[in-house]
Amino acid sequence: MKIGIDKMGFYTPHMYVDMNKLAVARNDEPEKYTIGIGQEKMAVPPITQDAVTLAANAAMEILDEADKEKIDLVIFATESGVDHSKAAAIYAHHLLRLNPRARAIEVKEACYGATAGIQLAKGHISLHPDRKVLVLGSDISRYGLHTPGEVTQGAGAVAILMSANPRVMVLGKESAYHTEDIMDFWRPLYSKTALVQGKYSVEKYNSFFKTVWEDYKKKTGLTLKDFAAICFHLPYTKQGLKALRLVIDEGTAADKERLLAHFEVSKQYNKIVGNIYTGALYLSLLSLLELNTDIEDGARIGLYSYGSGAVGEFFSGILQPNYREYLHVRHHRKMLSERNEVSVQEYEDLFNQELPADGSDIDLPVGNDPAPVLLSGIKDHMRMYINKDQS
Ligand code: HMG
Repeated sequence: MKIGIDKMGFYTPHMYVDMNKLAVARNDEPEKYTIGIGQEKMAVPPITQDAVTLAANAAMEILDEADKEKIDLVIFATESGVDHSKAAAIYAHHLLRLNPRARAIEVKEACYGATAGIQLAKGHISLHPDRKVLVLGSDISRYGLHTPGEVTQGAGAVAILMSANPRVMVLGKESAYHTEDIMDFWRPLYSKTALVQGKYSVEKYNSFFKTVWEDYKKKTGLTLKDFAAICFHLPYTKQGLKALRLVIDEGTAADKERLLAHFEVSKQYNKIVGNIYTGALYLSLLSLLELNTDIEDGARIGLYSYGSGAVGEFFSGILQPNYREYLHVRHHRKMLSERNEVSVQEYEDLFNQELPADGSDIDLPVGNDPAPVLLSGIKDHMRMYINKDQS
């Protein structure tokens, strides 16, 4: 049975900060941010957006009534959860008006969560081929102002509709994965920002890549020549390039040229959004599929997922006939091009705005946020969400 990605949605907030200006404000050379790290713009979320709203906004654009009826499993991957008990998937399920005869759960393993969701979805669909699974990967990445990780923040969500006989990409059965208990990046329950051993995290990202790539080759017999492109989890775009360079010499000159050229295409969205944690690999895939001009139907795309802590996985998929027709490229280009730039001072002010942590109520300024789905406030310890398209 063919199982994989039928539709892909994406949402990022309407504001960004320019990395050249952030570098100047931090007394760094702009080229460090734009070339050394490889980021040009960083999404800045308003207080009216959280993991739930980002995900619901990403899913709204792709789901039609027939999909909503067929979805009987919602898997919400996030490391920016809004409640220790209740799954963010249930809020999203409600905001999207999905079929009540569904399971809705939240999964967590840093940036690997959405890949776990996709692999679980494959199992569910193989047992129930007529059903669909909605996988959401949604996060706000926060390291703190004036930290080395600041330049690698971002905010956004991807929504992936998984089905049998998918129209965009069939995912392969074989996959290579690896788990190790390491402290490269984590966020204790008491902290609003991530703790990270930056250089160590880069080292582990790379060594996990080499491990799963070697395993994948052994399991499948595939080599670089079999891939039109390889997409990477992109915490910042230079990281993917570092990993690709570790294996690129295994290929011919033509393989190198093709994989490096397609890597450039696959990083375009990420370099103007930033790290969206769980969704970052799939944002890179979206960038590749929506912006390439030469990848044919039937081509194989490799996918490397990495979540600190850590779990890594390499798998691949085959593009389906006329896959471009099922993408939402115009919508995504418009959303990205219509964003407003905020100054470094405005970004810092927005960063410092926080929801009350003492249980008090708050009404949020929803009129300032053009997104359809918003967090409108907190009342009696409960988050209040609105979907403007349904009110
Ligand atoms: P840093 O110490 O500020 O930067 O931290 P650096 O000194 O290493 O410089 C970065 C690069 O800029 C270097 O290039 C410099 O040479 C270059 P590289 O050697 O790496 O190729 N550079 C310049 N280039 C051009 N012109 C210049 C210039 N100056 C310097 N003038 C670090 C960088 C990424 C460590 C930091 O930002 C950080 O800690 N980020 C957060 C952690 C992270 O993103 N780790 C990635 C792997 S782990 C992962 O992906 C999982 C994650 O997504 C979390 C999850 O799973 O949930 C993070």
